[in-house]
Amino acid sequence: MHTESRLSFPRSFIWGVATSAFQIEGGADAAGKGPSIWDDFCRLPGVIQDGSDGRSACEHLRLWEEDLDLLVHLGVDAYRFSISWPRIQALGSGPFNEAGFDFYERLINGMVARGLKPYLTLNHWDLPSALQAHGGWENRETVQHFVTYACEVARRFGDRVVSICTHNEPWVMAYLGHESGVFAPGIRNRSSAMQVAHHLLLSHGLAVKAMRDQGCKSQLGIVLNMAPVHPATASLEDQARARLDDGTGLRWYLEPLLLGAYPADAWAHCGPDAPKVQAQDMAHIQAPLDFLGINYYTRNVTSADAPWNAKALGLEVTDMDWEVYPQGLTELLLRLHQDYDLPPLLITENGAAYADRVEQGEVHDTDRQSYLARHMEALSQAMQKGVRVDAYFVWSLLDNFEWAFGYSKRFGIVRVDYETQKRTLKDSALWYRSFLQMQHSMRAKD
Ligand code: FCB
Repeated sequence: MHTESRLSFPRSFIWGVATSAFQIEGGADAAGKGPSIWDDFCRLPGVIQDGSDGRSACEHLRLWEEDLDLLVHLGVDAYRFSISWPRIQALGSGPFNEAGFDFYERLINGMVARGLKPYLTLNHWDLPSALQAHGGWENRETVQHFVTYACEVARRFGDRVVSICTHNEPWVMAYLGHESGVFAPGIRNRSSAMQVAHHLLLSHGLAVKAMRDQGCKSQLGIVLNMAPVHPATASLEDQARARLDDGTGLRWYLEPLLLGAYPADAWAHCGPDAPKVQAQDMAHIQAPLDFLGINYYTRNVTSADAPWNAKALGLEVTDMDWEVYPQGLTELLLRLHQDYDLPPLLITENGAAYADRVEQGEVHDTDRQSYLARHMEALSQAMQKGVRVDAYFVWSLLDNFEWAFGYSKRFGIVRVDYETQKRTLKDSALWYRSFLQMQHSMRAKD
């Protein structure tokens, strides 16, 4: 497996790894922290596959220095992490919690001292419970609270963080959180989901403007989960379904940001569940982006009949049963490049869960290594055809709390033994490290 010799990236390209607060930090009741909707959701019976929660997770709150040292050892340029809103503002409004800010102050300074570029995400799903008690993202007041939170984070850290992302994957919060209800806050109501999606986009646009107005120097943007949507068969029904899924899942989020309007086909499909949109909302959402983050894991295949199942068809899948489909990343990037006037793109997440085995203290995860190498190659192909992408982040640095799957799915390039909190570099991490060494030595030759 020497695909890396075929990879060619610009010298300025940023390589990193990503995590999120709830999935690694632990310290659920640390000084001054309020609960989040994920703390509450985990308490509901049967919603987390292994019955676990995020109370201690990877104990990153305690072990953050060791984790930053791991990043240095890997040789990454950048670290994408998120802030837990209820850790720095227990109720999501009102007083800020200095103990919470101290943690992120140390974490960010720790990155800077180690020469790592901080890429900060404001909302990776852990909304303060106190705001959910008033309707959460469905309530338009949450938009203003988010803007206040964003401005405070930008005021304190904007001088040191390279980039600030408002939201991670609004589709997940809206659809999985409020329509299918398999993620927090576990609501099943399509019109709520549509309103939530609108408020997430609106709060993004207003926060970007407010952070910029106060002189924030960081690059400001948002992260969307995206995938090409393919019809399962050539039937007209499947093709229509695929186009609609592209409208509701991808264009619904992308087009307001880039074009200032919801896509007409998906809007028509909303019927009475369409969101309430006020005058000026769309103009606010369209605030110029310094970057657009893309999380890519697999393609999406839709069928008007029974759900399409990659595994049942004998296709290569990960431990999530997600099809391994690297060419989908090339296809997606080329399509976006052709259809839209894009800001610089970042691949903010890409990675795979596998049921790793520890053999004499080592993890020979050749499947994950191959997944990453093939996706990096797919990325490089799109870039060679003219798509501007500035960075790539592996999901994830550590095995962690994989939401409704609990700890049963391992996405890390570093293994976490949850009994001892011992971290072990898997072969994929060693491979990434030597790949990065190669990139750095090419840079040094310039
Ligand atoms: C993405 C999430 C991330 C992680 C990966 C596997 O949707 O942003 O937190 O769960 O999937």
